[in-house]
Amino acid sequence: MIEQNIVSLFQKNKDEFLSGEKISADLGVSRASVWKYIKKLRRDGFEIEAFPRNGYRLKSIPDKLYGNIVGSNLDTQIIGKKAIYHYEDIDSTNNKAYELADKGGTEGTIVFAEKQSHGKGRMGRFWASPTGGIYMSIILRPEVEPAKICALTLAVAVSVAKAIDNTCGTKSSIKWPNDILIEGKKVSGILTEIKAEPDKIEFLILGIGINVNVNLNKLPKASAVLRADRIKIVQSVLKEIEKVYYQFLKKGFVSIRDECKALSCVIGKTVEINVSAGFSSKKGTAIDIDENGALVIKTGDGKIKHIFSGDVILSEYKKNNS
Ligand code: BTN
Repeated sequence: MIEQNIVSLFQKNKDEFLSGEKISADLGVSRASVWKYIKKLRRDGFEIEAFPRNGYRLKSIPDKLYGNIVGSNLDTQIIGKKAIYHYEDIDSTNNKAYELADKGGTEGTIVFAEKQSHGKGRMGRFWASPTGGIYMSIILRPEVEPAKICALTLAVAVSVAKAIDNTCGTKSSIKWPNDILIEGKKVSGILTEIKAEPDKIEFLILGIGINVNVNLNKLPKASAVLRADRIKIVQSVLKEIEKVYYQFLKKGFVSIRDECKALSCVIGKTVEINVSAGFSSKKGTAIDIDENGALVIKTGDGKIKHIFSGDVILSEYKKNNS
């Protein structure tokens, strides 16, 4: 926390020298420990100049999703406020977050990685996670029944899409249930995993992958990559997720449904849905997202079906990307 507060103080006083005395007084720590933390930050790649009479000045911060960088000036109440873990290389941030949650990890804990060796996607797929993208998992402990998870994940997709657009000036859309697309190409995906009893969730892991600043050749076909400041995107995503999470808990999915439909690139389109591996796909026209977050389709014979999980293939998307 002190490290984070030092980073925060430097960022608030950009390009200015801060004396050891000021830092120690502002943060309530000894000057010796200020020096100890400065040395630690330098080891982590922060460029901090030191001049005997003027004090310290932050020249640059490393391009890493460190807790002390993401957490500095983070505008949330709970998410990222107690614990942020960072790994250079991990199998999957979702696995790590699950392990932490299982041992009692608090709500709002975040796990970041610079790269993942076994990034997990929906429906057992692999999530390509080359160095430098955004890979993060958040522990939540919502007091809702497991049946609400589909709607909650959809609500989170709305917040991720909004955060990306606000930071990058893009115009993203959501391919139900939770793929974020830019001009028809996937830029982000969300994987929700839970530990639950039939009527109660013990914890939920929200895993989010965003393709940022990575080589497009390292990603599957039909992916999009953003070129942007990762920290700005992450801080905006965390803020929007927290907002939508509490809105969902207080007012339910109905209060987010219209926004979700407005961002959907599926409604009104001819779709094919792979419900799960080995089962035949369902075809029809997507006509709505219901109050539970299910996709409503009208099949060729006029029947209305509510789909709770699966993978949507848009006919136009299929043509463009095959
Ligand atoms: C999908 O669209 O299939 C979901 C992709 C989710 C990927 C993220 S990256 C961070 C977190 N850790 C994982 O192993 N998966 C999620």
